[in-house]
Order: sequence, then structure tokens, then C-alpha cells
Amino acid sequence: MLKISVLTAFPALYSEFVATSLVKLGQQRGLIDFSFFKFSDFCAPKEPIDEPTVGPGPGMIIKPEVIDRAMQGIFEQRGPGYVIFFSPQGTVLSQDVLKKVAQDVGVAAEKAESVSGSDKHLILVCARYEGIDARVERHYADLLLSVGDYVLMGGDLPAQLFLESFLRLVPGVIGNQVSVDADSFSAALLDHDEFGLPVEWREERVPDVLRSGDHGKVAAWRLENSLKKTLVRRFDWFKKKASDRALVAQAKALIPRHYVVLMHGDVMVKSGEVGTTSVTSIDLHDIARTCKTYGVEDFFAVTPLRDQQEIVKTFLGFWRSEMGQKFNQTRTQSISILKLASTFEDVLAAIEEREGARPLVITTSARDVAHATHIDFYDQGFVWRQERPVLFVFGTGQGLAPRILEVSDYLLPPVKGMTEYNHLSVRSAVAIILDRWMGVNPVTSSNARDVF
Ligand SMILES: C[S@@+](CC[C@H](N)C(=O)[O-])C[C@H]1O[C@@H](n2cnc3c(N)ncnc32)[C@H](O)[C@@H]1O
Repeated sequence: MLKISVLTAFPALYSEFVATSLVKLGQQRGLIDFSFFKFSDFCAPKEPIDEPTVGPGPGMIIKPEVIDRAMQGIFEQRGPGYVIFFSPQGTVLSQDVLKKVAQDVGVAAEKAESVSGSDKHLILVCARYEGIDARVERHYADLLLSVGDYVLMGGDLPAQLFLESFLRLVPGVIGNQVSVDADSFSAALLDHDEFGLPVEWREERVPDVLRSGDHGKVAAWRLENSLKKTLVRRFDWFKKKASDRALVAQAKALIPRHYVVLMHGDVMVKSGEVGTTSVTSIDLHDIARTCKTYGVEDFFAVTPLRDQQEIVKTFLGFWRSEMGQKFNQTRTQSISILKLASTFEDVLAAIEEREGARPLVITTSARDVAHATHIDFYDQGFVWRQERPVLFVFGTGQGLAPRILEVSDYLLPPVKGMTEYNHLSVRSAVAIILDRWMGVNPVTSSNARDVF
């Protein structure tokens, strides 16, 4: 049995909650047992539960000694337990945090019998006003838990939110544990679309494959549907969770193809005019390697100058030669995606010819410049939903010429660190931007660490 003790100013807020649906069933099945404790029950007659905060400014907090008495009272009546204080400043609630709490509380067992036969205790403390004395939180809380980046008036809805999600993990509380494991956020993917009858609703049909009876095909459809949705809705989640490299490869095949262009023409030069810059072999090498790592299809180097074009051709000639291939095979692989072009328009035409569609052009800048449509490093879902190839444009010299910025669909903000020095090399900027845009590095350690 999991004992759940809730310390609150308003126990009445829970009366429907504990008497409804699966939470009620969990109690009837002998798996969970609630007790509610009211702050005011631990006050002397006429003693208020709150007092003004120390220091200038308005605000009341729950008195430390009231919580202290309440906690000691709960321990005496129901024994020690795992203590959660709710706070917007805590670890943000997620499926991972829930799993970790289930382990820490000792209810992550496989079988309902093992929960009903056990003696575990979870204590939830729900503050109001300005919250709780920081020392009391640090002393008593095993976990400071937030339900999201917004501020509520009190901890009672967070406690109910936590219970709604946590009790699903307590074996026996919900009927079918398999559906829990297939739900969104239990792994790297969001759940697939579900449908009911009728087969046709407002001119949209349930996909035929789901009614085909072919389990293999249904599973494949569901996986692709999950993957597509996750990529355009929650790539932030996917990049943190996708450890299966075969799944990552499948994801890569589902997103639009990406291209990169490095401009040595149509750039601003020191005189403040539009001009040209020289190619450098270190940029060609390093950007090609970065592009290859992140799965960019082609990396174009644009220069209108004949002598500069000759330099690139010599460079390409070496790496395409037998000698170059023997010299360093992995380098040859990356250089194989390097293409020389004379103008930006030539690059657009080459991509359009291959893709059958004009790419969405995303420009970059080291400075804050004006543009009709700014996007962020985290807007890939929005861009990918448009199902068009994507071209990232990087400048050299003093940055891209206004005409290139004007023809681009979107502009990314400058990459910034925590200092005012802002002089990244273009090859560093390419690496950082491609990593933010398409990097997949699953979190390997538990991200359910507490905030203290
Ligand atoms: C008005 S809030 C206090 C906010 C606090 N002054 C702050 O800005 O961090 C009062 C109480 O509501 C609960 N609460 C409010 N927002 C919450 C959230 N996002 N997650 C968890 N608890 C929350 C906490 O118990 C908190 O102590």
C-alpha cells in the first residue's frame, strides 16, 4: 500500500479528486491510501498559518514553525516518507522525473501485489502565498517539484497534476500498463494518431492501412506517424531522447534535405561596400566536415572571381584524385559534398533542379540586423512542416549583402555567448548553428536531478 499524505490549506479541493475514476479505484483496490492534513490544524488557537516575509516588499509565507509542527505530526501519525514540496522553482515535472520518483518511493515494481503488500509513504506539501521559508524547503524536501514555467496561486493543482501522472505508474492503478509504455514521452517519440469510427468524418478517412489487419504494416505506419509528428512538434524532445541510431537515421530521411552555402561574393567588405572575399582551404575543409556530420546534402562555395574559382578547383582536384583519396578517406568523403558556384542564384537553381522546389532560404548574421521574418534556432519544426528543402546561407567578410538578406525567407539571430565579444569564425558559426538545428545528443544521465 502506498500511503499518500497531503499537507494543504484547503483539503476540500481534493474531495472530488479522490472520489473519482482511477484514483478512487486505486484506493478500492488497496493500492493507495490518502490522508489530508491542514496547516491550520497545527496552529495554536487564533494563530495564523502565515506571516509577512522578512525584508522590504509585500508578501506572506507559511510560518516555518507551522510547517515544522505539521511535518512532525505527519511523521508521527504515518511514519517517515518521501517528501515533495511544490514550487515553480523546482525540477520540472516530466515522465522521467515521475519514473525517478517511483523508484525513489519504491513503487516502480512490476506487480500490483508488490505495491499492495508494501508500506511506502509519499508526502506532498502544497504551499500558498509567497511559498515556503527557503530553509524549511531545504531541510524537509526530497524533491522540489514544479509543474511548469508559470506561477499558480497554490500547490494544490500541482499536487493533483503530479498524482494524475504519478499514479499511472503505480502498478495496478490503471488497467493496461502496455498503453502507459507506448504513450508520448515514455521514450523518444510522441504517441501515434488514434482514430475512432466512422471511417470517413468530414471528408477525412481513417488511413486504410489501420483497417488492413496487417499488423506489420500497421506498426510501420504508426512508427512513421509518431516519428513525423515528433520531428515537427517536439524536435527538442527527440534530440534529447533518441539514442537508437536506426531511429535517428529514419528521422533524417523524413525531414527536408538541407544545404549550406558559404558566400565569398555578395558580402560586405571593410570599406562598407558590397564586395568579394578570398576562399580559405581551412573553411572549405572544416565546413565540409561539419556539413557531412550533420547530414547536409551539398555545401556550396560561391565566388564570382576566376582566380578564386581556380583555387577551389585545384583543391577539389586534389581531393578527388587517387592521391587525395589515399591520403585521407574520411576527408575525401566530406569534400565530396563541396560544390563550386559563381553566384547565389546558381546555388538556388542547382537545388531547385535536384529537388523540384525552391529551397527555403535561411540567412545568418553576426550582428542584429533587420529582416521581415526572424526565426530562432529552435524553429526547425515550423520550417520542416513546410516540406521544402532548406538552404542555410553564411557570409564572410563583414557579413551578407543586403540583397541576399532581402531575398531570404528567414533570418537567424546572431550566435551569442555570455560575453560581448562576438567574433566567431564562420566555420565555428556553421558548426554551432547546424548543431542547434539538427544535433541529436540524448541525455544519458538522469535529468531528474533535484535542484538543491
Ligand atoms: C504564488 S506561488 C509562489 C511563487 C514564488 N513567489 C515564485 O515566484 O517562485 C505559491 C505556491 O504555489 C505553488 N506553485 C505555484 N506555481 C507552481 C508551479 N509552476 N509548480 C509547482 N508549484 C507551484 C507552490 O506551492 C508555491 O509555493
